[in-house]
Amino acid sequence: MVNSFVITGGKQLRGTVDVRGSKNAALPILAATILTKEICRISNLPLVLDVHRMLKMLEDMGSSIRWDGSHTVVIENKDIRPARLGKDTVKKMRASILLLGPLLARFGRVEKMTYPGGCSIGARPIDTHLAAFRDLGAKVTLGGKYFSVEIPPHRRMPPEVILNEFSVTATENLLLFLASKGSTTRIKIAACEPHVRDLAKCLAKMGARSRGAGTSTITIRGTDRLGGISHRTTPDYIEAGTFILASLAVGGHVHIKDAPVVDLDFVIKKLVSAGADIRVHPNKKLVEVRASFGGAGKGGRKLKIDKIQCLPHPGIPTDLQPAFGVLATQVSGPTLIHEPLYEKRLESLTELTKMGARVVVQDPHRAIVHGPTKLHGARLTCYDLRSGAALAIAGLAGKGKTIITNIEHLERGYEDLEGRLRALGADIKKI
Ligand code: EPU
Repeated sequence: MVNSFVITGGKQLRGTVDVRGSKNAALPILAATILTKEICRISNLPLVLDVHRMLKMLEDMGSSIRWDGSHTVVIENKDIRPARLGKDTVKKMRASILLLGPLLARFGRVEKMTYPGGCSIGARPIDTHLAAFRDLGAKVTLGGKYFSVEIPPHRRMPPEVILNEFSVTATENLLLFLASKGSTTRIKIAACEPHVRDLAKCLAKMGARSRGAGTSTITIRGTDRLGGISHRTTPDYIEAGTFILASLAVGGHVHIKDAPVVDLDFVIKKLVSAGADIRVHPNKKLVEVRASFGGAGKGGRKLKIDKIQCLPHPGIPTDLQPAFGVLATQVSGPTLIHEPLYEKRLESLTELTKMGARVVVQDPHRAIVHGPTKLHGARLTCYDLRSGAALAIAGLAGKGKTIITNIEHLERGYEDLEGRLRALGADIKKI
């Protein structure tokens, strides 16, 4: 089984790379297909493990799924049986919680659902989801291994729900549920991420109108007659950001095509004010990154970052924090990395110390990275999706051979990352 990357670092990245569809948009959109018996055509799906797992969960329940070309599926959910949901897949994947809203909408109850999979980046209970459904009038029953949620189909929905925090998947779950109700409900403390916006766009095509998606207050008016759709998944701003950060950390000259620039404007502003040469082309879909430094600390221009603080959108995305950490090893002076969201996501920085990075972890949420450092090759372990991408970037920026084991985590969310980096001139292969 393929599970490691072997990288020989020190080669700059040059050329053009396309951004694929967003995993975190695709997952709730695939779950949304449960809301209708009509045909749904979802295109620009990224071919990543989490998408395949979501499709498998749908198929296990009885969805008819047909691929139409390489990145498009046609789904028909005429006869769905939640009891057939495979517990193992649910446990493997946190995003399985996104099935709760649509199943509850379609059947009025979800019985004995397995808790979604754990994750090495921090404890992520589903409290925010369950509290929100309780606020809608649901009866929630918690067991050791399972939980059940019930909302009578004709229950009147309240005019407002306030989430416990800006949770992305909890916001999506509420939208998915409320889309099927013929009432108007305001969701406050809603997550503003681009994938929430894409889900709202998709639900609007099905017939559920909402306003405010992309802000912290979303008002949705649903309907019990949601119809089939054709929807193209939005491009992945995290993937685009990963390529921007890779180009800066490794060095070179890269064009990033189909980049959702508006979703990255703060990241780009931060990098440009740090001294990066990043140009956004007038069509707003092409980002050009030039970096003559990078690549094992070769001379040339130096960036200075000072501080990276991850926050819910439109702040710096936590999913880019590990890659920012790698860039911090290549810039001048200290960078404070503040990760208030996850309590175990600084682990990739510790892994970088095996390559010679100078990192002082101050507490579970803060670390100082001292740059610039000439990273050297090492044997590293990938603990989660985003740290995997970051370690690959570090391997490319370092000198010598780096081996990264456990890369199956990385394959949960990046389609053919190594192939696309290789097309940019990187020396990276799977073994
Ligand atoms: N959090 C706060 N305060 C807030 C909001 C969140 O402390 O106001 C904390 C939460 O307690 C939790 C973390 O931030 O520890 C993430 O919370 P959230 O509920 O938003 O996460 P999620 O919905 O489970 C989605 C993405 C994650 C991404 C987070 C944050 C999907 C399927 N997953 O998770 O994606 O990191 O939002 O943006 O959309 C990934 O793709 O690698 C990934 C982990």
